[in-house]
Amino acid sequence: MKPGYVKRFSRTERVLHWVNAAGFLILLASGLILYLPSLAADVGRRPEIKDIHFWGGIGWVCALVLVALLGDRRGLLRTARQMDGFDREDIYWLRRRRPAPQGRFNAGQKLNAALTAAFLVLFFVSGMLLWAGERDTRFRFASTVVLHDGLLYASLVLLVGHLYLAVLHPATRHSLRGMTLGTVREDWAEEHHPRWDT
Ligand code: HEM
Ligand code: HEM
Repeated sequence: MKPGYVKRFSRTERVLHWVNAAGFLILLASGLILYLPSLAADVGRRPEIKDIHFWGGIGWVCALVLVALLGDRRGLLRTARQMDGFDREDIYWLRRRRPAPQGRFNAGQKLNAALTAAFLVLFFVSGMLLWAGERDTRFRFASTVVLHDGLLYASLVLLVGHLYLAVLHPATRHSLRGMTLGTVREDWAEEHHPRWDT
């Protein structure tokens, strides 16, 4: 490792993140074509886009499970525990009442990770129901499409915030190096995540 740098994300974590991001963006693009009548008319071929969307969704979930099973499972579990632990400092950080030194992930990132995981499950379940409902009326519920569309709006808000912090915001965009090359500057880690024992 280059001197002055610390390891932030393992290879498994980076592959998992980018497989998740790529799958999500393909589903977002194909989903928007299905959703917006003007786009569907421009692109034409709605049935093919629908197949790409549905099988893309199945492929997305299978690819994530495969990366998790074939990669460094123990490391992923450790990271999941670090993302899952919500303590008093995290509440202070969210309220911004006083300085609240953060660990490997700040409270905003923990929330983002929890919502991303919950949305993935809900997208999958509602998508499967939409698909099954077309084949068997017993699986047809009025609220399924409302849920699938609501998740689309909620995840778009998260994505815009996420991209702003990861690519544009001068104080945080150094994190992109961690998600691409795996390492970040020691001084940056110390400033943003002082309670992270690297
Ligand atoms: C996780 C796996 C997913 C599965 C299995 C799935 C499945 C489906 C199915 C079967 C439809 C109905 C297509 C139709 O009859 O027009 C649909 C629609 C749609 N999906 Fe997904 N989907 C998934 C994830 C996503 C994600 C991640 C997004 C966006 C980020 C998304 C956005 C949409 C949109 C916008 C529509 C159009 C809804 C409408 O017509 O009101 N889906 N999806
Ligand atoms: C394609 C554009 C994307 C870029 C440039 C990007 C960039 C990043 C970076 C740099 C980090 C590491 C932050 C750190 O140092 O802790 C990260 C973490 C993360 N990303 Fe992304 N990401 C992208 C897309 C996505 C998408 C589409 C999702 C979910 C659907 C996602 C979910 C997450 C989650 C849950 C984390 C960990 C928690 C957090 O840091 O907020 N990312 N991303």
